[in-house]
Amino acid sequence: MSNQFDPVISLRGAKKYFGAVHALEDGQIELFSGEAHALVGENGAGKSTLVKIFAGLHRPDSGTLTVDGKVVHFDSPRAAIESGIAVIYQEPTLFPDLTVAENIFMERQPQRSFKRIDFRRMNREAREIFSRLEVVLDPTRLALGLSIAEQQIVEIAKALSLDARVIVMDEPTAALSSVEVDRLFRVSETLKASGVAILFISHRLDEVFALCERVTVMRDGRFVTSSLTNETDENSLVRAMVGRDLEKRTDQLRQFDQRALLEVEHLTLEGLFVDISFTVAAGEIVALSGLVGAGRSEVATAIFGIRRYDHGRVSVDGKELRRGSPSAAMTSGIGLVPEDRRLQGLVMEQSISRNISMGSLKSLKKNGVIRAFTETRFAADWSVKLQIKYGNLGNSVSTLSGGNQQKVVLAKWMARSPKILIVDEPTRGIDIGTKAEVHRLILELARSGVAVLVISSELPEVLNLADRILVMREGRLVAEFTHDDASEEAIIGAATLSSEVSAS
Ligand SMILES: Nc1ncnc2c1ncn2[C@@H]1O[C@H](COP(=O)(O)OP(=O)(O)OP(=O)(O)O)[C@@H](O)[C@H]1O
Ligand SMILES: [Mg+2]
Repeated sequence: MSNQFDPVISLRGAKKYFGAVHALEDGQIELFSGEAHALVGENGAGKSTLVKIFAGLHRPDSGTLTVDGKVVHFDSPRAAIESGIAVIYQEPTLFPDLTVAENIFMERQPQRSFKRIDFRRMNREAREIFSRLEVVLDPTRLALGLSIAEQQIVEIAKALSLDARVIVMDEPTAALSSVEVDRLFRVSETLKASGVAILFISHRLDEVFALCERVTVMRDGRFVTSSLTNETDENSLVRAMVGRDLEKRTDQLRQFDQRALLEVEHLTLEGLFVDISFTVAAGEIVALSGLVGAGRSEVATAIFGIRRYDHGRVSVDGKELRRGSPSAAMTSGIGLVPEDRRLQGLVMEQSISRNISMGSLKSLKKNGVIRAFTETRFAADWSVKLQIKYGNLGNSVSTLSGGNQQKVVLAKWMARSPKILIVDEPTRGIDIGTKAEVHRLILELARSGVAVLVISSELPEVLNLADRILVMREGRLVAEFTHDDASEEAIIGAATLSSEVSAS
């Protein structure tokens, strides 16, 4: 029999190899009822692999998994669900054409006679779960059009309807605005109070301290340490994750000329953004700040030609750019590291090496051919610069951990040596150790004369990198700060005025 001192779920000595890649060497963690437990570590440390063992997606090569003190072997995701384990992935997978309630009760809808679905009961039960979670969401609306944050709440409701006692969240906050993170945390507190154990993965340590009672650190597939969050601090965690102290970057002033390399005038796309005008000079770093949904990524994709704008113009070096043409944008020297890298940035079935070199093939050609050696060398150099962790550069890019995939997209665009680089959330999903490295590379590009436009929801990042900060709210530019006048409070103030209330 289980007793109350047993962990709800525990894993010890877990190994998981993929060919030569040792994803897990010594996976170890235990979760108790009612606690939020953070799992932290650098990109490729093995966090998601551990989660997939909990989820029944991977079988460990060795190791012991217990639920309520009893050894279990999950041979399918269903087995994990039946043991009360639910996993919420970063990008939820709801069916857009079904209602919220139908998604929650997928394949288990309450039925009336003659197998007719009892919609009223289903909607009522969904409503009960939402009120338990203290969120307002209409169970009868379609899932289509829900924000990622709302979709996650639906996934949590689904987990509760399945009586989940362990809810795993793998980087749930990466795509959320701060208001949405607050709501997710409130929901998580309610879950904890009802005895659910939460496993929380995030690269943001402030969130770890805000939500979790305990934290486990992994490095290179191994358990390093577990501690109570009130008995440790950020520096100790970083040291455990990275294996060394991180150096703090000191601000360095850069020189840049006043001539605009990128010029955006009165750009308007009905319903998304209105009358956006700004410039970026060669060597300058301009940040576009604001809440998620303020229209920043839409402006970026319009400049790059993925989206057609209705009015206005974009010029590079004084020459107007054809609108709605990514190839014209690329020819004129613009590069875009998109927000959704999985969809827009990578060819999943191609090799790591090819994904990095993809944009630079022309310059790698010698007498019309590219030698495999040259391409591999090129990819290897960039992998070192961005600390990409891989087994073999010839493996498909889909075998990389989430954060390492993002580094590949960054490498691909940085390697092209663009004149203008637009980066959307450059360090989302990237670990603390590499974050400083990405910042250093962006600064280096600027120093070499590249005009950089950075979109970022992380204020420390914006304050650290940008020479100028533009703030967008509800599709409009509402404020501009120089590096010296900018502060977190000033930016948040400009970004949230009036919209904060309606967002939650
Ligand atoms: N299917 C697979 N085939 C080959 N290698 C894999 C596979 N899945 C994971 N790996 C490797 O296992 C290691 C651990 O990956 P994992 O996804 O668990 O890291 P993570 O800690 O979640 O990192 P991140 O913070 O970047 O999400 C990585 O080196 C990754 O490349
Ligand atoms: Mg991961």
